[in-house]
Amino acid sequence: MDFELREEHLAVRDAAREFAETELLPGVIERDIHQRFPAEQVKKMGELGFLGMMVDPKYHGGGMDTISYVLAMEEISKIDASASVIMSVNNSLVCYGLEKYGTEAQKEKFLKPLARGEIIGAFCLSEPEAGSDATSQRTLAEDKGDYYLLNGTKNWITNGNSASVYLVMAQTDPDKKHHGINALIVEKDMDGFRVGKKEDKLGIRGSDTHSLMFSDVRVPKSNRIGEDGFGFTFAMETLNAGRIGIASQALGIAAGAYERSLDYAKERKAFGVEIAKHQAIQFKLADMATRIDAARLLCLQAAWEKDHKKAYAKTSAMAKLYASETAMDVTVEAVQIHGGYGYVKEYHVERLMRDAKITQIYEGTSEIQKIVISRELIKL
Ligand code: CAA
Repeated sequence: MDFELREEHLAVRDAAREFAETELLPGVIERDIHQRFPAEQVKKMGELGFLGMMVDPKYHGGGMDTISYVLAMEEISKIDASASVIMSVNNSLVCYGLEKYGTEAQKEKFLKPLARGEIIGAFCLSEPEAGSDATSQRTLAEDKGDYYLLNGTKNWITNGNSASVYLVMAQTDPDKKHHGINALIVEKDMDGFRVGKKEDKLGIRGSDTHSLMFSDVRVPKSNRIGEDGFGFTFAMETLNAGRIGIASQALGIAAGAYERSLDYAKERKAFGVEIAKHQAIQFKLADMATRIDAARLLCLQAAWEKDHKKAYAKTSAMAKLYASETAMDVTVEAVQIHGGYGYVKEYHVERLMRDAKITQIYEGTSEIQKIVISRELIKL
């Protein structure tokens, strides 16, 4: 077993770190306060290849492995978790889903510009009454011969307004339950498609999260991904991959908060010494660092399994579960170490604490991860 990262992995990690520190750090507090989408920064991420990292170069992607993706996600999330969720959805839900299951024509038309980062995509599964219970899709895709007539509402969609391409799960044959669901590619300019209200969120406030409305949208059959009824499997398989991205985002949030806390503890004096000399702080730092290392190992294991074409649903759910719990606990401790400074925006850790919470919710709550893990363990 080799724990050494290869040269090309280190190069990707360093490039992501530099990009995050030079391009994302300036303005990250303002974007959070004003819920401003990082449009210029996302454009640069596209130019640098961070939006289609794992896509085959023949579809204009970076052709990198999932390990590289984890390392880049960690670095970008240390600084700006809003930018990293935009990156994660584009890479490991939208591009991954299209590359693995799309037709050549779909790849030509949609995957190439997505991988180049010229446009971004959204993944639309959640509904007002179907979040964790994803089999209960109410959005309808009626089969009308050579097209589907799409009607319904999606909720909490990341990249909701900034996307140009939407992968939408919808029910075609309710009698077949989840086997009647289809995954359709909806384009922003299709008649009857409307972007609804923007959510005013606790964290990841730079990313745009919207509801979406579909009213008699005609989606050509050529925009269906996979066979008729493949949509739920498509969503589940894509989420297995996507969870590696969110796990890495959570890892980065935790690592960012820890690094800031370590620096602060070595500088800040209380009771005549640097607070890092107090055992109360040392114990916190030790716990934080230990959990972050364990979370990173799970993320890298899931990435390695995916890259080596092994089953990885269990490990990606474990990584997502453990890293998101770590992100929440570590960021709370980071605020505590910073004391009063931790509670104000300038020191960044309060934002990281707010950002951490969503990693326990999206792409499946912690409870959903436990369902996925136990399904794989029990496999009756
Ligand atoms: N991988 C592959 N297939 C899976 C799967 C997995 N991880 N989990 C379930 N399935 C398949 C099952 O094999 C089964 O298929 P068959 O009927 O063909 O055998 C089918 O899905 C239904 O499975 P269950 O009977 O277990 O269904 P359930 O209703 O009891 O549970 C669930 C399913 C796992 C809870 C699922 O509903 C789920 O994952 N829910 C969470 C949804 C989610 O993560 N939403 C996030 C939205 S996207 C997002 O957040 C993006 C963003 O903006 C950042």
